[in-house]
Amino acid sequence: MIYQAADILRNSNSYLENTNEVEWVLSHILNCDRAELYCEERILSEDQYDNFRNLLSDRKKGIPLQYLLGNISFMGFEFIVRPGVFIPRPETELLVEEAIDLLKLNFAGDGDFCPKILDLCSGCGNIGISLTKLRSNSIIISSDISKTAISTTQANAKRHGCDKRLKAIQSDLFKGLEGEGLFDIILSNPPYVRSEDVASSLPVELGHEPKAAFDGGDDGLFFYRCIIEESPAFLKKGGFLVMEVGFDQAEDIEDLLRAESSFEIVKVRQDYAGIERIIVANLR
Ligand SMILES: C[S@@+](CC[C@H](N)C(=O)[O-])C[C@H]1O[C@@H](n2cnc3c(N)ncnc32)[C@H](O)[C@@H]1O
Repeated sequence: MIYQAADILRNSNSYLENTNEVEWVLSHILNCDRAELYCEERILSEDQYDNFRNLLSDRKKGIPLQYLLGNISFMGFEFIVRPGVFIPRPETELLVEEAIDLLKLNFAGDGDFCPKILDLCSGCGNIGISLTKLRSNSIIISSDISKTAISTTQANAKRHGCDKRLKAIQSDLFKGLEGEGLFDIILSNPPYVRSEDVASSLPVELGHEPKAAFDGGDDGLFFYRCIIEESPAFLKKGGFLVMEVGFDQAEDIEDLLRAESSFEIVKVRQDYAGIERIIVANLR
C-alpha cells in the first residue's frame, strides 16, 4: 500500500475535525515543512503511516497536539514540551515583551551590566530561555516545584545553547532560592485557576496537563499572595516584579500589591482580547 501525503491531505477531514492538525502531524512524521507536504510528492512508509494513525488516535482522545509532537513555538523559538509540563500559552509572550522593555529602559546604560532575572514557576523554561535569546547578557534562574519541569527546562536550555547563562533549580516558590542573591527582575506566571474550577469546569484537554500548573487555591490568588509577600526579600531595591494574571484577577492583585507597601504598580498591560493580563510593580 502506498500512502501519499497529498492524498491524506485531500481527505484530511476524514482523519480529524481540525484539518490543520493533520498537516502538523504529517510534517512532524515526515520531518518537513507544512508547505513541502504540498510541493513535493511525499510518501509515508508503513511504519510512518502506523505512527500517523497512532498519533491521530491519541489526538482524538484529547491529548494535546503539543505533547504528541513534543514541541511548541514561543516567541519564535521551539521548546520541548512533554506530559507533566505546562504547555506555554501565547499571552505569556506579553510577559517576555514587558521584561524586554524593562531591560531596555532601566538596565541598558552599562554595557558590562548583566541583569539577574528570576523566572519563578518556570514550566518548560520558555520565559527565561526566550530572554537569554533576546537579551544575551541576562543571567537567569528558572525555578519550578516540578522535577519534570526542571529537567525539561535544562533540555531546552541546552537546545538553545544558553545552559551557561541559565540555572534551573527545583524549588517550592522561594524556599530553595536562599543563597542565590538578589534579582533585578522577578517574572512569574504562577498557577491561578480557582481550585473549584480546576476540578469542575476546565476543558477536557487541560486534564492532560499537570493540575499543579493551574491550581491557584480557593480564590486563585494563593501564589500571588506568597509571591507579593516574599519577593521583596529577593529583589534589589528598585527591582521589578512582573506577573501574568488570570482574566478577572488584575484588580485583586493590584489590591494585594498596594497592601504590601514596598511595591508601586507601574503598569497593567492588556492582552489582545482587552483583558488586563500583565502587572508590573517596582520595589521602592
Ligand atoms: C501556569 S504554569 C507556567 C509555566 C511557564 N512559566 C509558562 O508561563 O508557560 C505554572 C507553573 O508553576 C509551577 N508550580 C506550581 N506550584 C509551584 C510551587 N509551589 N513552587 C514553584 N513552582 C510551582 C508548575 O509546576 C507550573 O510549571
